[in-house]
Amino acid sequence: STTRLFKWSVQHQYWSPDCVENVVITINGQFPGPTIRARAGDTIVVELTNQLETEGVVIHWHGIRQFGTPWADGTASISQCAINPGETFIYRFKVPKAGTYFYHGHYGMQRSAGLYGSLIVDVAKGEKEPFQYDGEFNLLLSDWWHKASEEQEVALSSKPFRWIGEPQTLLINGRGQYNCSLAAKFNKSSDVPTCQFSGNEQCAPQTLHVQPNKTYRLRLASTTALASLNFAIGNHKIKVVEADGNYVQPFVVDEMDIYSGESYSILFKTDQDPSQNYWISLSVRGRLPKTPEARTILNYSPSSPSNLPNSPPPVAPIWNDYNHSKTFSNKILSQIGSPKPPPSFDRRIILLNTQNHIDGYIKWSINNVSLLLPTTPYLGSIKFGLKGAFDHKKPPQTYPIDYNVMMPAPNTNATYGNGIYMLDFNSTVDVILQNANALAVNVSEIHPWHLHGHDFWVLAYGDGKFTKEDEKKFNLKNPPLRNTAVIFPYGWTALRFVANNPGVWAFHCHIEPHLHMGMGVVFAEGVHLIGKVPNDAFSCGLTGKILNHKG
Ligand code: C2O
Ligand code: CU
Repeated sequence: STTRLFKWSVQHQYWSPDCVENVVITINGQFPGPTIRARAGDTIVVELTNQLETEGVVIHWHGIRQFGTPWADGTASISQCAINPGETFIYRFKVPKAGTYFYHGHYGMQRSAGLYGSLIVDVAKGEKEPFQYDGEFNLLLSDWWHKASEEQEVALSSKPFRWIGEPQTLLINGRGQYNCSLAAKFNKSSDVPTCQFSGNEQCAPQTLHVQPNKTYRLRLASTTALASLNFAIGNHKIKVVEADGNYVQPFVVDEMDIYSGESYSILFKTDQDPSQNYWISLSVRGRLPKTPEARTILNYSPSSPSNLPNSPPPVAPIWNDYNHSKTFSNKILSQIGSPKPPPSFDRRIILLNTQNHIDGYIKWSINNVSLLLPTTPYLGSIKFGLKGAFDHKKPPQTYPIDYNVMMPAPNTNATYGNGIYMLDFNSTVDVILQNANALAVNVSEIHPWHLHGHDFWVLAYGDGKFTKEDEKKFNLKNPPLRNTAVIFPYGWTALRFVANNPGVWAFHCHIEPHLHMGMGVVFAEGVHLIGKVPNDAFSCGLTGKILNHKG
């Protein structure tokens, strides 16, 4: 294994992700940020300099467990202080497991501002993947607004509430088309022209060049702020082989859903007519689609990459066909030989997801508490034994038994909180994510929940209110290991994990506006077991005061 050193500088820059000029956050002048490629067992060192003029920054390495380095998890107010403008912070962590990962900003709504990139871990030298392929592509999926992320934050925290609306564009590797369409001639009621590109434009689609009769691996990761996606390659089947850095029992589908925070590897065979090109297409699920589908081209050699496909683009499933989505999610099972979950749990935490009012503001809350992060990062205040940095009262671990998840709450009021769930080290924890009706009647949304510092087993998805009876539905034989799992509208999802990673870990909805509106909780375990942490991770708030005293 090797140590790989990266020097990054983060700044604001003009960019045209969807052919419309806006401001994005770049890393070393690139959007998306540079791809980190490493081998399992390597150590990654990122020297990050914040060149944003007036905002702090942190970077989260999504899917990397940070075993022994919880201070490098890159969550502002949880694992470290935000890095001030002009300052440099050094992230140092191991990437123990091969897989498809990504990184992104985890302070304010900087992920919405384009602060993200790919992190790909190959198997260690001498090791083999459990499948074969001739070539590989990597597609990082995101969504894009023309309204700056700072204004989005203001809108979401205003009274009366202002919704940011649906994204203007879906991006594939940071590229999308707002005022033209590659498939204009197939669009029924299209008012946008066919795109013309020389190829040098920042918004020109990235064509995938393939040879006939080969197998390709495609890595997909979604860092969308809002959109749940459906991905398809016209005329081609796809075989799913990896999810969130874990191998799955391979299965074949025509198209697949991908939620924010998830990553996959799929294989496809170039077994179609090589004189044609084919569509790669991305559409919105779970919300009335007001965002055009994103497209790029699968180009068979020797046909010209500038030939648009003759066949129409793949038709996406109806946006609210949740049964279709559930069928896909239920197909994901762990590969034979993967670690099995412990047969029982030590503690069960039920988390009710609701939309609420606090002083006339609209918030999301979990068991009626809307997360408002403290000034001093938890990891520092717990490790240094500080009192008063956050609320030491235990947050509720369930919700009232008579609560009707199918209806808006009779009392929509919630409270702010920053208390955390202290987990016994090495205990087995079950989390039941319980969805409910939002503020409006007949509205319940998809929420992809992401856990830091762990992978969890997804034991089951269910409809309605979770009851003791539902335990019978748990898959303890081959549940998939993931770090992100969705709850479907009016449904529940059961997860199990072992609290074996000393640190303080965020667990939240990966929809950026939802997290901003309080949709998250924090877990802590074994903090007393953590060795040395770099002081400059905690030079703010109460920990900052102590460190400054020590000089
Ligand atoms: Cu990818 Cu806490 O997020
Ligand atoms: Cu959400």
